[in-house]
Order: sequence, then C-alpha cells, then structure tokens
Amino acid sequence: MRIYLIGYMGCGKSRLGRLLSEHMGVQFVDMDDYIEERNCRTIPQIFAEDGEDGFRKIERKALEELSEFTDVIIATGGGAPCFFDNVDVMNKSGKTIFLNIDPAILADRLMKSKTERPLIKGKSRDELVVFIDDTLKKRKEFYSKARFEITEPDLSLDEIQDMIS
Ligand code: S3P
Repeated sequence: MRIYLIGYMGCGKSRLGRLLSEHMGVQFVDMDDYIEERNCRTIPQIFAEDGEDGFRKIERKALEELSEFTDVIIATGGGAPCFFDNVDVMNKSGKTIFLNIDPAILADRLMKSKTERPLIKGKSRDELVVFIDDTLKKRKEFYSKARFEITEPDLSLDEIQDMIS
C-alpha cells in the first residue's frame, strides 16, 4: 500500500496526508521534509546552492527511495510529478491522488506562507496569481495523469478511502 498525494503548492497535500494516514493506520511521509533530513539542508538552501535543476535531481532521488516504502502515504512536492518521468514512477509504484484546488484559494493560502517557498518568495499577490496561472497550465498535463482526483475540499476521510480502495 503506497499512496502519493500530488498537486500545486498550498493545495493541502501534507494536511490531508497526515489525517488520512492516521485514519488508515499507516505511516505518513512529507517528501520535502524527507529531502531536508536526507540532505541536511532546507529546501530554500538547496535552491540557493544548487538551483532548481539541482533540487529536481535530489527530488527525483528521494522519489526513487520513497517508492520502495510500504504502507505509506506520501505528500509529494508541488513540482515533483512534473519533472523527468516522476509521475509514471508514482503511478507504477502506488495510487496517485490529485488534489485539484481552485487557484484563487491557492493564492490566498500561499500569500501566507510564501517566504518558505523559493519559487514564490517575494511575489506580490498579483504576481503570484499570474505565476500560479502560468505554472498550473504546464503542470496540469502531469497532475491529470493521477489515477484519482479530489476537487471537493470537504470530502470525508471515509469517502476518500472508499474512492481509492
Ligand atoms: C515546489 C513545491 C514545494 C517544494 C519546492 C518546489 C514546486 O513543495 O517542493 O519549494 O515546484 O511546486 P509544496 O508543494 O509542499 O509546497
């Protein structure tokens, strides 16, 4: 049993992952936290020192390791499914769930936490909306390869568990 939660920054992968893992009695791994621990550096540090390309290679390596974990729910980084053949690796090794949340809600949430996210750091609300719009257009191609999709923010944990079982 291995579940990957995928979707844009701020869509609630980590929050849902934690709740669902408690509900199902399996372990939870946040991919960004895993990367930080394995590399003894924070995500902003990795971006600053190795650039986005370097980060994507590290992220890929983390995915290869996590794809061997069992009985686990993995909250992936927002860009993780969109590089290399990562989304195919996820689909082959587990069940993928795309959290498809309205861009306006994403913008509101990300305004509050943008200092921790290198890709959106320092952007005004208007710049953020344009950035979300642009990247979502490119990323949807990958997100839409997920086997399951949640658009309803209030879906219960039982309903989600039923959907994927
Ligand atoms: C990224 C999302 C972040 C993190 C990194 C890059 C992205 O994860 O992996 O800052 O490219 O969308 P969250 O989706 O958990 O914020």
